[in-house]
Amino acid sequence: AMIGKGNHAHFMMKEIFEQPAVIGETLNAYFNPASRTITIPNLPWDWNDLSRVTIIACGSSYYAAMVAKYWFEQVARLPVEIDIASEFRYREAPMPDGGMALFISQSGETADTLAALRYCKQAGQHIASILNVSESSMARESDIVFPTLAGPEIGVASTKAFTCQLVTLACLAIHAGVARGAIDHADEARLSSAITKVPEMATEILNNDATIRALAENIHEARDVLYIGRGLDYPIALEGALKLKEISYIHAEGYAAGELKHGPIALVDKDVPIIVIAPSGALFDKTASNLQQVSARGGRVIFLSDRDGIAAVGHDASAVVELPKADPFVTPILYAIPVQLLAYHVAIMKGTDVDQPRNLAKSVTVE
Ligand code: G6P
Repeated sequence: AMIGKGNHAHFMMKEIFEQPAVIGETLNAYFNPASRTITIPNLPWDWNDLSRVTIIACGSSYYAAMVAKYWFEQVARLPVEIDIASEFRYREAPMPDGGMALFISQSGETADTLAALRYCKQAGQHIASILNVSESSMARESDIVFPTLAGPEIGVASTKAFTCQLVTLACLAIHAGVARGAIDHADEARLSSAITKVPEMATEILNNDATIRALAENIHEARDVLYIGRGLDYPIALEGALKLKEISYIHAEGYAAGELKHGPIALVDKDVPIIVIAPSGALFDKTASNLQQVSARGGRVIFLSDRDGIAAVGHDASAVVELPKADPFVTPILYAIPVQLLAYHVAIMKGTDVDQPRNLAKSVTVE
């Protein structure tokens, strides 16, 4: 069937606004609300037999892998190695006996990711994939597929597929954590109920779209934009910068907040907007001090945080976006949304082709 844009001017915006629904559907596939447990199909491996997991992807899917590393290591005490498929496939990495390799891809067709999958298969790994397109090359060559139920994604820049990948990865990390005895049922219930609140919070963020559109006014003339975040929110800084450069053609870089002093702070002046992604939580004070270092040097800080974070250091920012206060476990899923919206509105102001940015392809099937 033909897929339309609904009430939206672009597929990308339609797909951003679908997120509350498709995040909910993806969660329903892996979470049983009656028992408050994660339920996934029988696995070809035992989580207790794994010494580490290897996760491989490209583009935004790779940033989902980065978030997953934090989740698996924290929640399941399972070491995770992540790599970009185009690097992994040529570096002849030694693989653990009976290991598991997990591939993340919206399309299931990205050439480098598929080649990396084949390498891991040769190396005797269990092959698992998180895919949005279930009839795809990676689906056919995997031992097990965890679908993301985002529905067809048409916009070249990934949005809803990315947040659904995160939901699936969060469920897998919880499942591994229980199986390995790293967390108990009470933790499982708490973490999964934090995910169940995401759709409603995502709706709240989308209802605040006008605030983000107003901020875009201050960004669309910038030449460079920096994004910083820490821990689980560091990959969202990378994703925010990627979204902006993909569709608005503004140079943007994502940095781990702690790396600011090792280079990017040299760029700070009144013309470089710095998007600080810092929900309140364990690492908040560290990122807040980075924010203050930037504003003390005349930097233009746009601060994405919650009520508590804004009460603490909001006065040091040029602009704030208040997001709902969430369990720190799920903040990467939520904070992905304002950075998508920001990139979208900046691109509209610049008049670029949002759904089909120049030089980019939805699925990179040739190297
Ligand atoms: C392209 C798309 C990105 C996507 C990446 C990986 O670069 O423009 O949005 O993240 O490919 O694609 P995949 O289908 O493997 O997730």
